[in-house]
Amino acid sequence: MTYVRNAWYVAGWTEDIPAGKPKGMMILDQPVVIWRNEAGAVHALEDRCVHRLAPLSLGRCEGANLRCMYHGFLFDAGGRVVGIPGQEEIPSIARVRSYPVAEQDSWVWVWMGDPARADEGLIPRVNGIDDPGWALRHGTLDYAAEARLINDNLTDFSHLSFVHADSFGANEDFANTQAKVAMIDRGVRIERWVVDQPPVGMPDSPVHFDFYLVYDYFVPGILCLTVKALPLGTIERIGHVEPPEGIELMHLYSAQAVTPTTSRTTRYFFSNGLRAPADPAQVDFVWDITLKAFAEDNEMIEGQQRIIDLDPDRRIMPAAGDKGTILYNRLVDRLVREEQKTGKAA
Ligand code: FES
Ligand SMILES: [Fe+2]
Repeated sequence: MTYVRNAWYVAGWTEDIPAGKPKGMMILDQPVVIWRNEAGAVHALEDRCVHRLAPLSLGRCEGANLRCMYHGFLFDAGGRVVGIPGQEEIPSIARVRSYPVAEQDSWVWVWMGDPARADEGLIPRVNGIDDPGWALRHGTLDYAAEARLINDNLTDFSHLSFVHADSFGANEDFANTQAKVAMIDRGVRIERWVVDQPPVGMPDSPVHFDFYLVYDYFVPGILCLTVKALPLGTIERIGHVEPPEGIELMHLYSAQAVTPTTSRTTRYFFSNGLRAPADPAQVDFVWDITLKAFAEDNEMIEGQQRIIDLDPDRRIMPAAGDKGTILYNRLVDRLVREEQKTGKAA
């Protein structure tokens, strides 16, 4: 699997990891156990006991430590065995890999690469689900598809006009509008201006707006999206620039994270909602459309994966709308090559 290892991967919502309940998951084909101790600190270890390779995620939290509940080996937060029932001596090799962990903006992040390079400053900032400035809903979706295909999907929104014609209600003007794409630090920024469109999810509405969309897509698959509905004629008036704050009639925000679990499966975390204070009925309306849309993506991408697997050597044919995808994938390839060159990917 060619994914960047020196990166923070979202392992779950902070609420997914309650104190005292270890949780096992795969990240980049590695079994990882994540747990929160009584003091509230979150830790991540290889989910594979040194003794007979049982999952530590079936274990028990004991103070700052985690006990394998097969034969009782006790592990500290750094992965070292600190207790073996019926045995005084603990061999120095008795340890499992530990992963740097951070909690930020409602997500638990795990660093999958060289621990010496785990810089929390590299975690992309998003609006957390408890941010008082936003009324957000959130969810998680598992994919029977490789994460690369979901990254490709999220870096090319021209699919909105087709995959999401019945949910977001984007018409073909959307796909016919070229996005502006720029490289940013560890990611790409994609902006789109679309004029004279019906409101999100209401394709038959006679009331139209102009729309401005902007999102950053960061390694290893973190999306941070803003959509603003503007009074009709705004884009013609101000041109293709970022609209000034406060003139929008609606402001939608979404944070999304794509975590490769195995080479053919992915976990997708997402929030979506409106600037607070917002009418809860409107937030629900947007959320219901979003769930419908993400089920549409899921169906298309899992189908795409099945076709790819029939003949994995088949070449793709890039198109004009792929610029964001191409630049993002080039960035990933460059970071992977750099890791392989330095051998510093752990
Ligand atoms: S497998 Fe963990 S203690 Fe035996
Ligand atoms: Fe989509």
